[in-house]
Amino acid sequence: AAVDPFVLGLPKAELHLHIEGTLEPELKFALAQRNGITLEHATAEEVRASYAFDSLASFLTVYYDSMKVLQGAEDFYDLAMAYLRKAASQNVRYAEIFFDPQAHTSRGVPFANVVGGLRRALVDARRELGVHAELIMCFLRDFTAEHAMSTLMESLPYKDWILGVGLDSDERGNPPAKFAAVFARARQEGYLLTMHCDIDQDNTHEHIRQAMEDIGVDRVDHGTNALERPELVASLKDRGLGLTCCPISNDWVTGSTKVSDIAALLDDGVKVTLNSDDPAYFGGYVAENYQRFADESGRGREALVQLARNSFEVSWLTGREREHYL
Ligand code: HPA
Ligand code: ZN
Repeated sequence: AAVDPFVLGLPKAELHLHIEGTLEPELKFALAQRNGITLEHATAEEVRASYAFDSLASFLTVYYDSMKVLQGAEDFYDLAMAYLRKAASQNVRYAEIFFDPQAHTSRGVPFANVVGGLRRALVDARRELGVHAELIMCFLRDFTAEHAMSTLMESLPYKDWILGVGLDSDERGNPPAKFAAVFARARQEGYLLTMHCDIDQDNTHEHIRQAMEDIGVDRVDHGTNALERPELVASLKDRGLGLTCCPISNDWVTGSTKVSDIAALLDDGVKVTLNSDDPAYFGGYVAENYQRFADESGRGREALVQLARNSFEVSWLTGREREHYL
């Protein structure tokens, strides 16, 4: 579906974007060639045709498998530059970008390659494209808390390049409470905190509650199921916490974009935002997510402006740059 020029032109912040989820098949082939890897598909079209997800777990299998082409710092640089060019073309002015270091270090790729390549792209993009971006390091919740803690320690020399920490991957049996000590230490080190509470997961309401009340997160990723519990909605509003919603991702993973729930939260005064999550896999960048919201909710420009304003308001921007957008 075509994106309305108004949607494209709206200044936006993107706050829920996994950089590994921006790996388009064409770049995957280029990096495979650079690194001497043979892929199981012959063309980018074949790769796209193979994407069929019906759960978070079925998506994650493909997402992690594709990462084998990411090895050197240059690969991470090219990955991030490609995303930032696309973001600039959709008038994303600011992005907080997730990365999954354990998905790389566990395959033998040095932490320094990952963070070094990404950081260099962010510096170049700010100068060449006028897009400001920062990094959020996510822990894989299906790995142990000890593995997360050692990754946190490994990140400390790069603290100036990392704004906060998050929690992603397979949520089943991996509640926020499992990482209480890791997140307490991360806060002590000066990191801001966010966590995924994915759509329609087991115990999602308890996970949202733990993230807010026990961990004290500064934001919640997804978290849309809060709508079903008035006390969670009240708690989000009391704390002024943003939700980073991802309609097209929701559709792939759960069979619904949840646009009506997102609109209901917006009407209720919760600071919801729209984001793309893993755009190379789900087939839509942030502007396509705004368009999908507009098409399915029937809401007009006022709602879209509010969503874009929310994205700057619940971002972790500070000072004059923050004031500029509000
Ligand atoms: N949820 C959990 N883990 C993820 C996601 C997500 O939306 N995207 C990439 N890793
Ligand atoms: Zn996500």
